[in-house]
Amino acid sequence: MIQPHGSTELKPLFVEDEARRRALSAEAETLPSLLLNSAAAANAVMLGAGYFNPLTGYMNLADALSVAEHMHTTAGLFWPVPIVNLTRDASIKAGMRIALRDPNVDGHPVLAVMDVAAVEKVSDEQIRFMTEKIFGTLDPQHPGVAVFTQLGNILLSGPIQVLNFSYFQTEFPDTFRTAPQIREEIRARNWRTVVAFQTRNPMHRAHEELCRMAKERLNADGIVIHMLLGKLKEGDIPAPVRDACIRKMVELYFEPNTVMISGYGFDMLYAGPREAVLHAVFRQNMGATHLIVGRDHAGVGNYYGPFDAQTIFDTIPPDALKIQIFRADNTAWSKKLGKVVMMREAPGHTPEDFITLSGTKVREMLGRGIAPPPEFSRPEVAKILMEYYQSIGG
Ligand code: ADX
Repeated sequence: MIQPHGSTELKPLFVEDEARRRALSAEAETLPSLLLNSAAAANAVMLGAGYFNPLTGYMNLADALSVAEHMHTTAGLFWPVPIVNLTRDASIKAGMRIALRDPNVDGHPVLAVMDVAAVEKVSDEQIRFMTEKIFGTLDPQHPGVAVFTQLGNILLSGPIQVLNFSYFQTEFPDTFRTAPQIREEIRARNWRTVVAFQTRNPMHRAHEELCRMAKERLNADGIVIHMLLGKLKEGDIPAPVRDACIRKMVELYFEPNTVMISGYGFDMLYAGPREAVLHAVFRQNMGATHLIVGRDHAGVGNYYGPFDAQTIFDTIPPDALKIQIFRADNTAWSKKLGKVVMMREAPGHTPEDFITLSGTKVREMLGRGIAPPPEFSRPEVAKILMEYYQSIGG
């Protein structure tokens, strides 16, 4: 099986041993508390679940800046996005052991225990520097920039021990999986070549066919549809609805035992190319040999070129990652060929030969109870989406 990133063995920061976990939870109730923001909580969940292997906690300022600038930590580990705990809380001092409390669960239970190695003030200029490098823009309209620049400018770094998986395990028991759990299932299914599909959307025909094309062309044993379960920008479709769409599509249109449906607990960054590289890192950690990267992967608006999330992989050192990227061109239904194709493989076509619909247009149709054409969206998927949009008033 493919090695985890940066180490031979996966070392999730979740405290697996129940007795130790219980003791740590009891201790945590006696410790000073920090109420996390959702971004830092999502980082803790990813660290706990082994997806951010081999990190042992939150990065310090030197590492965060180095990662933002060169995609490497100061110790030389390849890493694409700073994994940080930025806060406005000035009460925490270096050397303290603290309880990290979960902002996303009622009563703010302890999510993790942190040994604070350093507390560093981040200048506005350093925040801007990191923002620009991660997101490629400083525009406050960018949803990822809007979040990142509001987290605070006190950076707490140091190792953490994770006690639970926040709301992900309780709200998505059938879908949320840790990296070791996915590795275990890949092993149990005896899959060798495994294609991961990142998604934050319900899957339409293009998504479905991308998975099928990747599986066929790579001669893969299976596909892991790995959906984001954390926070999205306003207007994006909630995870339970996406999950229902994906399950219906897989049930009806994929051969049995060729697809594993799962999800991970992270908030969407909308960081396009940098996020695509982070996606590759954590899909390697969960045991995938390939990641599909299509058009405007992890993008938003017009901040990134349609294939920037692919070309960024040409700039990273060849031995930085073991996982490989399956690069997909813009994919849509060809009226001439009567099937979904990658546009680069449809010679002689003009844009009018394809059925393409903008996200806005699809939303508007679904809200009015009109199903998009079956060439764009499976009718069974469209039905679930129409019910959702009508339930929220269009
Ligand atoms: S993402 O933010 O998670 O990337 P989405 O769920 O829409 O958004 O896309 C999942 C994957 O499918 C990404 O790799 C994206 O590039 C790819 N993709 C989505 N639609 C198309 C399309 N029409 N053509 C090519 N690739 C696509």
